[in-house]
Amino acid sequence: MGHSFLHGKKILLAVTGSIAAYKAALLTRLFIKSGCDIKVVMTPAAKDFISPLTLSTLSKNPIYSDVSSEEGWNNHVEMGLWADVMIIAPATANTLAKLSHGICDNMLTACYLSARCPVFVAPAMDVDMWHHPSTQKNIDTIRSYGNMIIPVGVGELASGLEGEGRMAEPEDIALFLNNHFSRQKDLNGKEILVTAGPTYEAIDPVRFIGNHSSGKMGMEIAEELAERGAFVHLVLGPSKLKPQHPNIQLTRIVSAEEMYQAATKVFPQCNAAIMAAAVADYRPKEVSSTKIKKKEGDMAIGLERTKDIAASLGKEKKVKQFLIGFALETNNALENAQRKLKKKNFDFIVLNSLEDKGAGFKHDTNKITIVRKDNIIRKFELKSKREVAIDIINELLDMQNI
Ligand code: CTP
Repeated sequence: MGHSFLHGKKILLAVTGSIAAYKAALLTRLFIKSGCDIKVVMTPAAKDFISPLTLSTLSKNPIYSDVSSEEGWNNHVEMGLWADVMIIAPATANTLAKLSHGICDNMLTACYLSARCPVFVAPAMDVDMWHHPSTQKNIDTIRSYGNMIIPVGVGELASGLEGEGRMAEPEDIALFLNNHFSRQKDLNGKEILVTAGPTYEAIDPVRFIGNHSSGKMGMEIAEELAERGAFVHLVLGPSKLKPQHPNIQLTRIVSAEEMYQAATKVFPQCNAAIMAAAVADYRPKEVSSTKIKKKEGDMAIGLERTKDIAASLGKEKKVKQFLIGFALETNNALENAQRKLKKKNFDFIVLNSLEDKGAGFKHDTNKITIVRKDNIIRKFELKSKREVAIDIINELLDMQNI
């Protein structure tokens, strides 16, 4: 793993009182090896878990712990301004609560409040503490301030329990930061809606009409947008996938109607929407409230149209908003795509043909053609879905600059 983008970066590592604090030593070594300048600030409790001498030796700098000491006053403002990035690892439930409420009772929280640089937070705690609603609320609040939460790992915990709550491994934290610095932030300040996954339309409490969409394409688009600085509203149908990036606000829905409600609610504040969901076009006219029993002979289910989410956003669309659609076609692909582009008022449509090997549902690859409203057509090779996401986002930026 190369950490080249970390080279020369000034990192303020903030350590709190958790068993995972020993990993701060490994993290410090990784940063030093990558050519970073590193200063460490510790809470008083952190010193019970790892010796300040270890961290000062590894970081080649004195440790900051008290706002004032016999030698004088430690300038937290100066520390906050010095850093290119602050990383709180491990962050205990207690410190998360302080960060979310602006409590300033030690050198670490004072540095955090004074910092102007990006702040990354790597939580570490027991599984039940992690899942407690107050912790999850604090995480959401901290994220809403623009800080980045490094996902916790799953596994054996110091308590002996198994589950979520382990601090991310030092290598993964370094990689997370490296990715942060390596990305071009060309979507900073933009807000983008992405729909993804299938929708399920209930027949009765146990049955539904659905499709094979995995949500992978939309998820890759959401992750890539977020990596490039956008704030993403992801409206996701039933899918096993889970977004990772802190800039992705996830709304899970089940039916086309729920997707419609969620998408139309946020679209007015968005710069663009990318409609990657495979929305059901029809739903059962009547949903039985009890499980339907089998009878002799055939059965028919009456279906009615769902709302066309893309078309209704297309109607509402303001001049400065961009709308991107998808089309999955089996025949007359280009012609059908052009018709949909006009009908739904898309700025461009991403066409994937099921005739192409490796394209479409459940694959990790996709082969697309982009058809723009100005009739420019671009054909792409078979690529990974992440690379396809990059092509789509580049096209969006290209059109916005016209
Ligand atoms: N779409 C949507 N809401 C729907 C149906 C489709 O937002 N109720 C969006 C899809 O996310 C996709 C685009 O519209 O971006 C094209 O969907 P598709 O179902 O292929 O288009 P249709 O107009 O329904 O065409 P057809 O059924 O004739 O293939």
